Amino acid sequence: MDVLIRTKLLSPSAWRAGLLAAVLALSCGAQAQEKRAVPPNIEQAAAEIAAELARNCPLAPAGDVGAYNQCRQALFGPSQLRAHVAPIVLWGRQSKKENATLRQTNLTQFAPDAWTGMYAPLFMFNGRHTVEWVADEKMFLVRLEAAFRNRLPPGQFPYPFWHDEAKWSMYENARSMMLWMSPETATIKVAQFTDVAPTPLLQPVVAVQHEKYQGPWLWTDEKGHTQPAVTLFDGLYRPENPYLGSVDKRYRDLAAQMRESQCVNCHVPNNPDKMSRLVLLSTPAHAAAEVDRLIKAVREDRMPMDEFRLSYALSEDNKKWLLESALAFKASLTAARQWEDEAAKKTVQSAINPSKVIK
Ligand code: HEC
Repeated sequence: MDVLIRTKLLSPSAWRAGLLAAVLALSCGAQAQEKRAVPPNIEQAAAEIAAELARNCPLAPAGDVGAYNQCRQALFGPSQLRAHVAPIVLWGRQSKKENATLRQTNLTQFAPDAWTGMYAPLFMFNGRHTVEWVADEKMFLVRLEAAFRNRLPPGQFPYPFWHDEAKWSMYENARSMMLWMSPETATIKVAQFTDVAPTPLLQPVVAVQHEKYQGPWLWTDEKGHTQPAVTLFDGLYRPENPYLGSVDKRYRDLAAQMRESQCVNCHVPNNPDKMSRLVLLSTPAHAAAEVDRLIKAVREDRMPMDEFRLSYALSEDNKKWLLESALAFKASLTAARQWEDEAAKKTVQSAINPSKVIK
C-alpha cells in the first residue's frame, strides 16, 4: 500500500532511487540475518549428534545388516539424535526444484520411534558436519556427510523405495543428511537427505536395479515370514519376544478394517492423494508409531476423508471394528515393549551379578 501511494507522489527517478534503496536495505537485512552466529546450544547439539552417529553408524559395506542393526538399536534407544527429535518429524528428499522452501516440499510425518528405528539408520556417517542459519526457514541447518546402505536385503527397508525411481536414485546417491533445528530448543523439526552437496560421495556406490514395485506394502516371503521384516521390529526386538506374533496378527486385522474404511486409499507410500504431509499406516511399525493419533482421529470423526478432503463419520459398525482392532493392536504393542524392557533389565542384572540370573 505504502509503495502504491508513493509512486503517485514521486518523480520516476526519485521512485527508482527509492526502490534501489529499499532493495539494498532488504538484501543487506538478509545478509545480516544469514550471518547470524550459531549459538553454543545449537553448536553443541549438532556436534554431539554428529559424533554419536559416527560412533554408532560408521561407514560400512552398504549391505552390512549387522552394522545397520547396531546403528538402529543405538538410534532407537536413548540416543542424542532421538533426544532432539520433535514429537512429529517431517522426513523426505530435498526438493529438486531450485530454492524450494520446506513448505513447498512434500514430506512424510514420523513419530520418533519410526524415524529413529527405520529411516535415519539407513545412513552411515563420518562425523563431519556444518551448521548454518537459514533465514528463509528461520531454522539452523545441520548438514551431515552421509552415505546410504543401498545393498541391504529388500525386507530391511521400511518399504520398497524403488516404487519411485527418482526416490531410489536419490537415496542411493545420498551425500548428506540435513537436520533442521529450531533456534530456541535445538529440536529437529525436519530431516532431509540429498544427493546434491559440496562434499563427495563417502564411498563408491554400486547401484542396485530393482523391478518397479507397486505394492503390496506388506508381504509374506517364501519362508512364510512377514516382510519388510524391519517393520515387525526385526533387529530391534529380540526374536524370541513372544508378543511379536500377535503384533503381526493384530496389525493384519487392523489393516483389514483400514481397507474397509478407505484409509488405505491415502495412507500408503505411493501417496495416491498427493498429501503434502503424508502419514503412513501401511505396516506394523508405521501404524504402531501413529496408533494413538489414529484412535483419536477416528473417535473424533476426523478420519476418514472423502476425495475433497472433507472428514466424514464411519458407519457405527465400521467405526466400532476399526477402533477395536486398533486398541487390540496397541495392547499387543505394549505387551511386546514391556517384555523387551524386562528382558533388558534381566540382561543388565545378569551382567552385574552373573550367579543370580533370573529366568
Ligand atoms: C482422502 C484421503 C484420506 C483418507 C481416505 C483418510 N485419510 Fe487420514 N489423513 C488424510 C490427510 C490429508 C491428513 C492430513 C495430513 C496432514 O497433517 O497434513 C490425514 C491425517 C491422518 C492422521 C494424522 C493426523 C491426525 O489427524 O491425527 C491419521 C492418524 C489418519 N489420517 C488416519 C486415518 C484413518 C485411520 C483413516 C481411515 C479411517 C484415514 N486416515 C483416511 C487423508 C486421508
